[in-house]
Amino acid sequence: MAIQLAGVSKVFGKPGSAGAYLAVDKIDLQVEQGQMLALLGKTGCGKSTIFNMVAGLTEPTEGRVTVDGRNPFGDFDAFRGRMAIVFQNDRLLPWRTAVQNVELGLEILEKSASERRGIAMSWLEKLGLRGHENDYPHALSGGMRQRVSIARAFATNANILLCDEPFSALDEMTARRLRGEFVRLVKENGKTAIFITHSINEALEIGDRIIVLKRPATIALDIPHKETDFREHEEAIRKRIQDVLAA
Ligand SMILES: Nc1ncnc2c1ncn2[C@@H]1O[C@H](COP(=O)(O)OP(=O)(O)O)[C@@H](O)[C@H]1O
Ligand SMILES: [Mg+2]
Repeated sequence: MAIQLAGVSKVFGKPGSAGAYLAVDKIDLQVEQGQMLALLGKTGCGKSTIFNMVAGLTEPTEGRVTVDGRNPFGDFDAFRGRMAIVFQNDRLLPWRTAVQNVELGLEILEKSASERRGIAMSWLEKLGLRGHENDYPHALSGGMRQRVSIARAFATNANILLCDEPFSALDEMTARRLRGEFVRLVKENGKTAIFITHSINEALEIGDRIIVLKRPATIALDIPHKETDFREHEEAIRKRIQDVLAA
């Protein structure tokens, strides 16, 4: 099992105090190697909180998170280069060129400078950014900047990818194109991925499996939709998701 959450809760503030807020309520979740899981839910339902616990950026209040059998929070350093993250905001360093931003993830892996450059250039090319390697982020469009973030995530060769609404700030046409490329790259490279989204369409396009969350984060639906005949059932699945989200 690549990623496992067992009885995971997260309370912000002092548990039991008046200001305490339960953001995640006893989640059990297992993501298998090679699976592309879309985590879908409305804004504020606790998606990013779950994401942060899997990424080792926050500790659960209760329960246990394991990634490849280890604790991502307690064992944070062991995950360098093994887990790659793409956020909504591209988080590129403005004083570094596109290729230097992609190289960033490789520097902590202690690769030689020429190796880093070669890997970074080839990922930029795969993402259609040939000719823009030496551009600074401010000279790139939002879609191109997000491509650089994706190139950076793939360049580390991490086998687990975590994405928190990476395309939600882009226009729909750009987002659609990037989604298609992203799914192809994840599959070609055999990655395990958790993809967070508040869009039903995006979840349907990206996920092999869709989990719908309700606030505070609990699992309301768990649909292994690519394992069923997806085309045939897409409208039925969409309807079920809409009903759950509206309730
Ligand atoms: N650091 C924090 N301190 C207090 N409350 C928080 C914190 N982070 C998130 N929350 C609250 O937890 C809930 C879930 O937030 P979040 O996980 O960011 O939701 P989502 O990503 O689904 O929009 C929200 O009500 C939010 O206000
Ligand atoms: Mg969020």
